[in-house]
Amino acid sequence: MKTTILLCIGASLVYTTMALAADKGFVMDGSKRTIVLPAPSVSLIDGPGRDITSSYCNICHSLDYITTQQKFPKTRWHGVVTKMVKTYGAPIPEVNVGIITDYIATYYGTGK
Ligand code: HEC
Repeated sequence: MKTTILLCIGASLVYTTMALAADKGFVMDGSKRTIVLPAPSVSLIDGPGRDITSSYCNICHSLDYITTQQKFPKTRWHGVVTKMVKTYGAPIPEVNVGIITDYIATYYGTGK
């Protein structure tokens, strides 16, 4: 019984190692590889709050999520920013939620 269990564990380890080795992206010798990401293609309009908005809203997705939306009123943008924090776990301190909402509402919303 013990031998069968050990054989099963051994076989699955060998199989996993082979599967990982077959994956070209997996580096077996521990050497480093680098990839070059494309430069961010969207930059926001200059104004108060732009840098904070750019850095927080670009963590998970492109900033074109902001620039390609309709011109929403401020309350709607506040709802979007709050959803990013509460639903998706965006690490945005409360103090910055207002700054970001004001910025987006002003430059990509109805302004009020
Ligand atoms: C923690 C990750 C994360 C961060 C940070 C983040 N978002 Fe999102 N966002 C998401 C996810 C997940 C979705 C929904 C899936 C998708 O469409 O890619 C989304 C979708 C959106 C959408 C599409 C409409 C909607 O309501 O789903 C908008 C607009 C948006 N985000 C704006 C923002 C803004 C503005 C910020 C900065 C305040 C921000 N996001 C920061 C994760 C994030």
